[in-house]
Amino acid sequence: MEDRITPGLYLEMTDRPAAEYAATRVDELLALPGVRRATWWENCVPGRTEYPRRIPEFRRLAVYEIDAGFSPPPRPGDVRGLCFRRTARPGQGTIGRGPTLGLELVLISPRSEPEAQALRDWADFIHIRDIAAAQPPHFTMITPYENVTGGEPRWLHFYELDCTEAEPAFRNMTPATRERIGQYGTYSYAEWAGHPALVIDYVNTFRRVGAREAPRPGTPATPGRDLAPDNFFEVALSQRAHREFLHDSVPDDTIERLLEAATHSPSAENGQPWIFVVARDAELRSRIGACAEKMWASAGREYSRGRISGRFHEAIDRWADGGLAAAPVIVVVCGDTSLATPGALAASVYPATQNLCLAAHALGLGSLFSTLPTADMELATLLGLPSHIRPMTVVPLGFPARRLGPPKRISFREKTFRDRYGVAW
Ligand SMILES: Cc1cc2nc3c(=O)[nH]c(=O)nc-3n(C[C@H](O)[C@H](O)[C@H](O)COP(=O)(O)O)c2cc1C
Repeated sequence: MEDRITPGLYLEMTDRPAAEYAATRVDELLALPGVRRATWWENCVPGRTEYPRRIPEFRRLAVYEIDAGFSPPPRPGDVRGLCFRRTARPGQGTIGRGPTLGLELVLISPRSEPEAQALRDWADFIHIRDIAAAQPPHFTMITPYENVTGGEPRWLHFYELDCTEAEPAFRNMTPATRERIGQYGTYSYAEWAGHPALVIDYVNTFRRVGAREAPRPGTPATPGRDLAPDNFFEVALSQRAHREFLHDSVPDDTIERLLEAATHSPSAENGQPWIFVVARDAELRSRIGACAEKMWASAGREYSRGRISGRFHEAIDRWADGGLAAAPVIVVVCGDTSLATPGALAASVYPATQNLCLAAHALGLGSLFSTLPTADMELATLLGLPSHIRPMTVVPLGFPARRLGPPKRISFREKTFRDRYGVAW
């Protein structure tokens, strides 16, 4: 999936809570031969009624990217499984610039065996092709897979999306495709919309809640590890300050993973003086945004003029004037003054903030490490903080509204000396 040619997909379907499934089942499957990567997903519209369904509905989906060395393992009673391999025909679409965060899962079968090839051809050369050519927003790749057993459901059409809010994107897919092929009542629309041999087994949309790579040979399996070690550098070297976000919501499971990363940062005497307040409420977010606006207007704007570029200044202007409040989630990272000396408090809370931002980036979210709103005394009152808890950083989180280029950084060579200051590295 995404930018990989994945020979096969093994799907598991369950109603188990996602966090429980991830904790109890994912590592077990990642340890099996032939399993490369796991992602797990939340059903956006459980019990959808507008399409026929021949396989029972389920709330959570796990997708294991597999190769020929994989055989489906025994399953607990509350988990069902389906194993697919790539068909001879390629996926269609445009590889997204970010990770796959949403899915449309379509399972179909032919009405009869003699009609199977005609249905496959319709699916590849008309249905999927027209959607890919129409490029509906958020749709990236559409890849056909076939059931390894040859049984039903016979084919999986795996639609990848670059946003977690797969349902609104899915609802827009047919209108966007109609724009290209013709409206209701036209021959071309009717030809696209259905085939006489088509039997729909399942259609639904999913949002991603987690991803984990299989341990590489020679590396110890670490429960909960979601990136190969190489990816650390990819994440650390490309992370940027995001000030504009999409409205798409960020699931609680995802926020919890970021907070877990934040709480694994170092702190003086391991005092762990961080406290997080996660603001989702729109009114509260707008009041936190107002703190930034007030501090920017009262001093920051003038102070920064001339110190930073005009474009940078304008970006902070927009962030302070509505951009911060528009982020779907704002995490206020606070310091507990009873758990660290004054000197060590910020030195402990800041690494936690950076871990949060790096983890967000690793999962395809944008974030901003900001301190300006904490200068407003009102912020502590808004959050109901007791006097020994101080807001220290404010981190808006969301899917980035724009893709940012690589960060501009001075080379470490200009910042590093060998043994003595002044002796070049
Ligand atoms: C301690 C600290 C405080 C910051 N405060 C703010 C802030 O109040 N508002 C803001 O827009 N950015 C803030 N930033 C973000 C910086 O502007 C950003 O990290 C820097 O410009 C590099 O941006 P880049 O990673 O996109 O290249 C802060 C960063 C740090 C480390």
